[in-house]
Amino acid sequence: MYKFDRKEYERRMEWFCEARFGMFIHWGLYAIPARGEWVRSFEEMPLDDYMRYFRAFDPKGYDPSAWAKAAKKAGMKYIILTAKHHDGFCLFDSALTDFKSVNTPLGRDIVADFLCAARAEGLKVGLYFSLIDWSHDDFPHYGDRNHPMRNNPLCKNDKRDFNRYLDFMHGQVKELCSNYGKLDILWFDFSYDSLRGEAWRATELISMVRELQPDVIINNRLECSGEGFGSLAEGHPTPYHGDFVTPEQIIPPHGLFDPNGLPVHWESAVTMNSNWGYHAHDYNFKPASMLIRKLVECVSKNGNFLLNVGPDANGRIPDESVLILNSIGEWMSKNAESIYGCGPSGLEKPEWGRITRRGDTLYMHIFDNTIGPLPLYGLSPDEIGSMYMLSSGSEVPASTSWVHSDYPELAFAALGPNPVLPDSVDTVLKVCLQKKGDLNCSQTT
Ligand code: GLC
Repeated sequence: MYKFDRKEYERRMEWFCEARFGMFIHWGLYAIPARGEWVRSFEEMPLDDYMRYFRAFDPKGYDPSAWAKAAKKAGMKYIILTAKHHDGFCLFDSALTDFKSVNTPLGRDIVADFLCAARAEGLKVGLYFSLIDWSHDDFPHYGDRNHPMRNNPLCKNDKRDFNRYLDFMHGQVKELCSNYGKLDILWFDFSYDSLRGEAWRATELISMVRELQPDVIINNRLECSGEGFGSLAEGHPTPYHGDFVTPEQIIPPHGLFDPNGLPVHWESAVTMNSNWGYHAHDYNFKPASMLIRKLVECVSKNGNFLLNVGPDANGRIPDESVLILNSIGEWMSKNAESIYGCGPSGLEKPEWGRITRRGDTLYMHIFDNTIGPLPLYGLSPDEIGSMYMLSSGSEVPASTSWVHSDYPELAFAALGPNPVLPDSVDTVLKVCLQKKGDLNCSQTT
């Protein structure tokens, strides 16, 4: 009978909560057609056609250390690479298949290089691993919801042996957990229809993973996908429960809580443009200003932000993404204290922005200046100890102006006479509380 050990669980989650911000990298053969990582499925492309990308894969600009440096410069604390996506192409040297990067013209074990480069930058490392494999004979083809051959009656499943597929899939997870040193995150993707939980022989898989990688953090997609929360969040953890929930292309409107009201760990995975894998014609990039505020939103709701980049067929992170990462990094270089190790404030969300909190320190993220002194919603004047502009360290006085004399129970900060905020994206006011207020930290702002 499985017994969930919350203490042990919270111990292994500690670094993840501290980190708050990570990089997702989707990279593989699909960078060559440059129409996103689902290209084979969307276009119902036969494997033989797709193999031309395998023969052509020779990314001249491949430099995992540049990826890791870009993540670090942006202020990210961890980095996750697609070791294998749904197409089945392995970026690692699996003994169980020939469909791997060492057999392409590149001839390298990308996962090994990547882990080495990321660790050298002091980043925590994770691997994404697709539970689905469209290149394997024993994975359901005809009639499956997603398989490229789903509509091809010649690809019926009579001779396919799903258990043989599972032996193979478990074997690959074992390789990743045995041959590449300590992994900090395993990011499985994904369950659907009847393929979930024990259909993946999940108890067996997770007990093997936990044995080989005792501290690894595992996501919830052996049970669900971007949809669904998983058994831990639902309050009845299975032996293969995920350690964190993985909302995709959305930030949970109210944060996430289990049925007992306990906060649930989560990580929102978000693309910079509209695709995970490189797409040559996708210029729908989210501005850095927006992404900075979304990172703050995640932290204020007790979650992490996993921001994706899709390197091109030469192995380079697109210029647009690099510029965005650099702008985020510039903001982080002055304001990271309001992100790392921070969480919800327990105060209502203010009209002018959001609040993050670490212990007795509140970080007021001001997106939109007010007329006159800034109201510190939920705080009375005697609760304020000291206040500073986070980026400069200069002291900010509490306001004593007559203009708010009608609101004596509310504290106000005097940001100064200039109505234009020093940082138009997010000016952070650090507020150190007098240590008597005991706010309820489990609420979200
Ligand atoms: C999805 C997609 C996938 C992407 C992932 C990231 O489930 O299948 O292409 O890797 O989400 O969250």
